[in-house]
Amino acid sequence: PEIGCLSIVVLGASGDLAKKKTFPALFHLYCQGFLPPNEVHIFGYARTKISDDELRNRIHGYLVSERSASPSEDVSKFLQLIKYVSGTYDAAEGFQLLDKEITKHEFSKSSQEGSSRRLFYLALPPSVYPSVCRMIRKYCMNKSDLGGWTRIVVEKPFGKDLGSAEELSSQIGELFDEPQIYRIDHYLGKELVQNLLVLRFSNRFFLPLWNRDNIDNVQIVFREDFGTEGRGGYFDEYGIIRDIIQNHLLQVLCLVAMEKPVSLKPEHIRDEKVKVLQSVLPIKDEEVVLGQYEGYRDDPTVPDLSNTPTFATVILHIHNERWEGVPFILKAGKALSSRKAEIRVQFKDVPGDIFKCKKQGRNEFVIRLQPSEAMYMKLMVKQPGLEMSTVQSELDLSYRQRYQHVTIPEAYERLILDTIRGDQQHFVRRDELKAAWEIFTPLLHRIDDGEMKPIPYKPGSRGPAEADELLAKAGYVQTHGYIWIPPTL
Ligand code: BG6
Repeated sequence: PEIGCLSIVVLGASGDLAKKKTFPALFHLYCQGFLPPNEVHIFGYARTKISDDELRNRIHGYLVSERSASPSEDVSKFLQLIKYVSGTYDAAEGFQLLDKEITKHEFSKSSQEGSSRRLFYLALPPSVYPSVCRMIRKYCMNKSDLGGWTRIVVEKPFGKDLGSAEELSSQIGELFDEPQIYRIDHYLGKELVQNLLVLRFSNRFFLPLWNRDNIDNVQIVFREDFGTEGRGGYFDEYGIIRDIIQNHLLQVLCLVAMEKPVSLKPEHIRDEKVKVLQSVLPIKDEEVVLGQYEGYRDDPTVPDLSNTPTFATVILHIHNERWEGVPFILKAGKALSSRKAEIRVQFKDVPGDIFKCKKQGRNEFVIRLQPSEAMYMKLMVKQPGLEMSTVQSELDLSYRQRYQHVTIPEAYERLILDTIRGDQQHFVRRDELKAAWEIFTPLLHRIDDGEMKPIPYKPGSRGPAEADELLAKAGYVQTHGYIWIPPTL
């Protein structure tokens, strides 16, 4: 491991993302010893003119979660590591001051042998990415005589379509090399998403089954049981496809569908993901259902005639040897009846069914990403008892039960640690981002132009009935009367 000074700079320090995700993730890393106080300093940067203590007070309430009943001593020690610098996002002055503060800290620790490592976390709207990157490049790079590195962490939305995303990529690309850029998609930091490659490539069970000969369809589903309250302004500009499907669900699709990488090196893995994306066929209008929940437009920040979907089901087809003919159904919605994210792999019917149990449902392998992380395999067994009849049951690996004493880390915590360690495996590469936009841009333009309209649905429902009809048409067979219940301890 590298030693020396590590400066973590959170730009947009007083914003929502920083307060709710970035600082708590840093705090958890600190509590686990990954940010040793003799090496690390944290800087908050934003426009608001506040003191160090005012920033600390704003963050304080977000650090203590139900997960970590952290001693207040830890909280205050962590807060003492944070210094605040105020400045604008496009003028030299603030960034020169920031550099001075970082350098001061680096020199105060200079008795240690080691390097100057600078991590800039842009918890900011993408409109300011180019100017902020320019300022960092000009005034805040690591001191080369000390060695080390400078890295920047950015988060979606990376543009609104292929053109704007490419423009943003080249603006940033002129200033930083790809190995310095960490594009976060926090779904890649979730425990069960990280498990996908292990599951697929280290289990003999799955190797021969994971293909078009055995799998009928794959669903990747995201549901939330609340609307866009409080962030309607942002959401209305983007809609559910840009907010969830084009990034989070598509990343999951890549891991479900990709070929085995040459090795676990980040570039090998990302090479395979790009190939999947490049093999996706153009989306057909008849394989899309859009929805908007009733009441969405009542939000004062949402235009009265908004055409923005808050729900979408989109079917993708991967044109390659493994997947031809297998629909990948991506589905996401706000204000639905439940909150969950899962991958559902449905197998084909058993040929020559002597038990006549086809109606009872198909084999499914379900990976529940959240809540109640689990994976379970729905399978047919003999109904216990005297009769020879069949019933659908499951092999269940529920994490809470199986790993009782393990705390599953937050996605952001894991990903920030990767940025410090320099591991880009779980970050989106530039060509990957481009390929992802290529898939959805034509559809998004048709929605933006009002050529495709969302169907209204009731908040708290399953979304438009048309979406279930599309699923059935794609070949998905719903098992009625069977519900998986997460085991209680
Ligand atoms: C964010 C979206 O990227 O992911 C939000 O902008 C969404 O709209 C959130 O609520 C969901 O994340 P998670 O981790 O709660 O599933």
